[in-house]
This record gives sequence, structure tokens and C-alpha cells, in this order.
Amino acid sequence: MRIAIAEDYDELSEMAAHATAEYINNNPETLICLAAGDTPLGMLEILVDMHRHKEVDLSTVYYAGLDEWVGLGPEDIGSCAKVMSDAFYNPAGIPKDRIHVFDGLDKDIDKQCRSMEAWISHHGGIGFTLLGIGMNGHIGFNEPGTPDTKGCFSVKLDNTTKTVSAKYFGKSRPVSTGMTIGWRTLLDAQTGIIMASGELKAPIVKAAVEE
Ligand code: GLP
Repeated sequence: MRIAIAEDYDELSEMAAHATAEYINNNPETLICLAAGDTPLGMLEILVDMHRHKEVDLSTVYYAGLDEWVGLGPEDIGSCAKVMSDAFYNPAGIPKDRIHVFDGLDKDIDKQCRSMEAWISHHGGIGFTLLGIGMNGHIGFNEPGTPDTKGCFSVKLDNTTKTVSAKYFGKSRPVSTGMTIGWRTLLDAQTGIIMASGELKAPIVKAAVEE
């Protein structure tokens, strides 16, 4: 593990975008797992810009959405699917058949999980993960105390996660469950980045690194 500290959010975004582009350039047919959330938005914008300038080709790789709020669909403001379509997949013009995300509106959560697992295994596992970390230390929706589990599953959301979720929806929504790729499957990726930004995240980053 390597820890890199950036001067500010812009430098963090540049560093993450260039590391991701370098991985894609070296592994043009790999499966990339992308977290939604606020932290990667800057790096995604840079990555799309690099794609437009032909410094990286984002259309050769495959994508897996890391997680989703159960009850929110791809048109709902704040859903991981919508955040990623608006910030990345649409502006980069990624063909739909290269993207697989959880559908938070499907009542059959188990089917959603099996379908994501099949997508990951069809591509020989995840090559690269671009992850964030929640205020309670969650990665995806692997909440504190989630076992070291392979595959995908649904999770009862932690109170911190429910409180923080209002920032994505522009209002409070009664979310209680999430779907996520499991921590063990993420750790099995060839390589990846966990991004964190801002003073508020400092204590949890320290705990995650040291504990
Ligand atoms: C969210 C998502 C994660 C995200 C994390 C950090 O709840 N489930 O995928 O990486 O929390 O989000 P942010 O970057 O907005 O702080």
C-alpha cells in the first residue's frame, strides 16, 4: 500500500485521474470498478477531458458500479447510477453494453447481486478499483462490521450513512438498505485507489490506515 498526500482537491483529482488513465492505457480491456460519491467527481471530469484529448481511451474498458441505494433508480437524483451517468458515462460517451450497475428499483435484490457477480466473473475479476471512504469508514456499502465477504450483497445501512446520504439527494430520503460489491472482491482487484478529501475525513482515514 502506498499513501499519497495531495496539496489540495485539485491535485488529488489530477493524481487519481492520471493513475487511472495509466492503468487503462496499460490494460485496455480490463474491468474498472468506480465509486460514486462526491470525492471522485473532480478526477472523473479530468479523466473525461483526457479521453477527449485522446490521452486515454475510456471506451475500450468495462465498468462495474460499486454500490447503490436500494429504492433509488437510475433517474433518481443522488442514485449512484445517475451520479455516474451524469458525471462520467454520458460525457465520456461510454457504450451502454460496457457498463453494469445495480438497479436499486429491482425488488429482487438477490438477482441484482448475482447479476453483478456474473459480470465481474465474466471479465475475469476487477482490474482496477476507484473507491471512496465514507465518514464511518465504509467502502462501497461495506459498513463497519461487514464481514470479509466475496461477491455482492445487500446491507442494512449504518446511521451515519443514512444521515450523510441527504447530501446526495438534496433532501432527506428514508434509505435503509444498500447493495454493494463485497470488500473481499474489491481486495482481489489487481490494483486500485481509495480517495479521501477534506478535514472531516481525516480521523476516519487515520483509523482506516492505522487500524
Ligand atoms: C457513499 C458511497 C460510497 C462512497 C462513499 C464516500 O455513501 N456508498 O461509494 O465512496 O460513501 O462518499 P463521498 O465521496 O461523497 O464522501
